[in-house]
Amino acid sequence: MKTKLLIFGITGDLSTRKLLPALNKIIGVSNVDPIEIIGVSRRDVDVQELLQQSIGDNALARQTTVFTMDLAEASEYHRLRKAISLTSDEQLLVYLSVPPQSATQIVDFLGEADINGSNVKILFEKPFGVDLASAEEVIARTARYFKEEQIYRIDHYLAKEMAQNIVALRGGNALFSHVWNSTAIESIELLALESLTIEGRAQFYEQAGALRDVIQGHLMQLLSLMLMDIPAEYDWDQLPAARLAALAQLKPADPEKAVRAQYDGYRNEANNARSMVETFVSMQLTSQDPRWKDVPFTLTTGKAMDRKTTEIRVNFRKFHDTQRNRLILRIQPNEGVEIELFTKKPGYEREFETRKLTFNYAEDALLPDAYEQVIVDAIKSRKSLFTSGDEVLASWRVLQPLQRVWEMDDTTLRTYTVQSSVSDVLKES
Ligand code: BG6
Repeated sequence: MKTKLLIFGITGDLSTRKLLPALNKIIGVSNVDPIEIIGVSRRDVDVQELLQQSIGDNALARQTTVFTMDLAEASEYHRLRKAISLTSDEQLLVYLSVPPQSATQIVDFLGEADINGSNVKILFEKPFGVDLASAEEVIARTARYFKEEQIYRIDHYLAKEMAQNIVALRGGNALFSHVWNSTAIESIELLALESLTIEGRAQFYEQAGALRDVIQGHLMQLLSLMLMDIPAEYDWDQLPAARLAALAQLKPADPEKAVRAQYDGYRNEANNARSMVETFVSMQLTSQDPRWKDVPFTLTTGKAMDRKTTEIRVNFRKFHDTQRNRLILRIQPNEGVEIELFTKKPGYEREFETRKLTFNYAEDALLPDAYEQVIVDAIKSRKSLFTSGDEVLASWRVLQPLQRVWEMDDTTLRTYTVQSSVSDVLKES
């Protein structure tokens, strides 16, 4: 079936850095049915120039056009519908690569102009609301015109190759599946650290902060993959329900077990001398699922840190003091798995050392970018890598107590020096 892909915000940062390069790969290498790209923009766009800037050549030029319209004008969407001229053997993917306020307005206009038939799918970028109440509102508003099965909410962390691999590693290895519980696991740590600062995204970041930007979606989704029951026979279609069940079991966050901080220099960058927006969060959660009784899950994220890494560390319980085992799932970079083992040091003496058992993808291995995966899956109507409305709400529900306390209390924001390590930030006050 031919796909027409409508991209709102085709000249924007996400589109030029991620979407167009991803489309270039998909169209170039995989056996996906034909795709026609229709960019939507307020102003005239030179397609050749846009592609040149984004992917370095004109490879997509034959299948790309740009439709110029006033996005805030309802009548323009009727003109858009005529221009798309969707036939019954085609599907339309609407990619909303625009700020959330514009996205919800565009959804209304699309619905009013009848661009919401059963062969229309809509792809949203996070953030899905800024708290529980606003997420409920956005979800309800979208539901006026689009059924849940037409809605694809992107959390690109779910689509990372190693995040998908959690399902295979947990389900397909007796070594892990037998010990995946509180009897054997002492704690789980999830880290998403970046060395970059907010990089000129002040306008967005001042409305977001680390809790909304990374914890609410990316890290909560990775956590749910770690805690959920693996669907029988790896039925990927069951993943959203399995993740939701895990999220629903999490206890509301305890503000006493959370730290927030802002890197030194953020206020200048954000041009807001009084900004209370956090660029670092470390928080602990627990689950009421008996399988995870008393196991703490620590979620930590920060910008301007000493390194870029996303990883999950599973710390196993010791039955006596010298034991140590840790499983590390390296989501990025250097995607792979490490197991720390206690071993005898070679030599005449009876000395010991910790060694690592490591699995790495070959350096030249082709790991598709998360955006390639989400576009391919949306085309093929596979929803396992997308967040359901209920998952979004369950995650906000867990974070709500933290948001409430932080809104009212401006004494708990710490400051840290750029390029700090996590332990440095936690030490600083
Ligand atoms: C985005 C956040 O969702 O994820 C950014 O808005 C963050 O602030 C980015 O930098 C990190 O993504 P990745 O794939 O580079 O880890």
